[in-house]
Amino acid sequence: MYEPLPYEPYGEYDIFPGGSEALLPAEGSVSRGWKPYDFENNPEGFAAAKAQLTNPLPYTEGNLAAGRQLYTIYCAICHGDAGDGQGILVQREKVLGIPSYDDQGRDITEGSVYHVMYYGLNAMGSYASQTDENERWLIDHYVMKLKNDLESGPGRAFDIEQAPLDNLIPAVNEEADQISRGEQKGGDGQQENQNEE
Ligand code: HEC
Repeated sequence: MYEPLPYEPYGEYDIFPGGSEALLPAEGSVSRGWKPYDFENNPEGFAAAKAQLTNPLPYTEGNLAAGRQLYTIYCAICHGDAGDGQGILVQREKVLGIPSYDDQGRDITEGSVYHVMYYGLNAMGSYASQTDENERWLIDHYVMKLKNDLESGPGRAFDIEQAPLDNLIPAVNEEADQISRGEQKGGDGQQENQNEE
């Protein structure tokens, strides 16, 4: 019979701790593709993300359409297609307390929306395991568009189209962020945090 040279998966060998080939990853390992998220799951982390974090993806028609699709899958059931808090589960009285995205008291920002998707908030669960970073930012664009529509805002001008779903820039890459927003009108209330005191 063929005897393989490497250890058998899940084989028993005295050389390993516990006698099993199946070991836990070394401490501090991260899975491929995973990137750390710098804001903690507490009120301070929420406030910091809300004030500082901005969407690294260009605001293109393609990205918005992709965001809409994901929003419809994950969020509309509670928040409603228009983001007014009147999803089907609300209409059927299955859930309570779903805010509208134009709720003045909440004053959502790109950063706060991302934070809430990442960690969840009270009755709202986390979407960190169902969506990846790119998808969350796509949804984020669409949520901010819904907010703007609910407020009858002027709407945001599109950036120049790039290949959708294939353009992830790291979340804290301010430089690329600014370049990609270069054409955009100013004064939409989003803070360009980095160099402000
Ligand atoms: C099961 C129903 C449900 C689903 C699905 C859901 N949410 Fe929520 N969401 C809630 C509830 C409830 C709150 C209010 C939480 C609170 O303030 O206690 C909320 C609050 C929010 C807020 C406001 C947070 C703030 O700053 O106060 C945002 C933004 C939001 N959700 C975005 C999303 C997005 C984006 C998705 C899809 C990825 C989503 N939600 C899916 C129930 C849901």
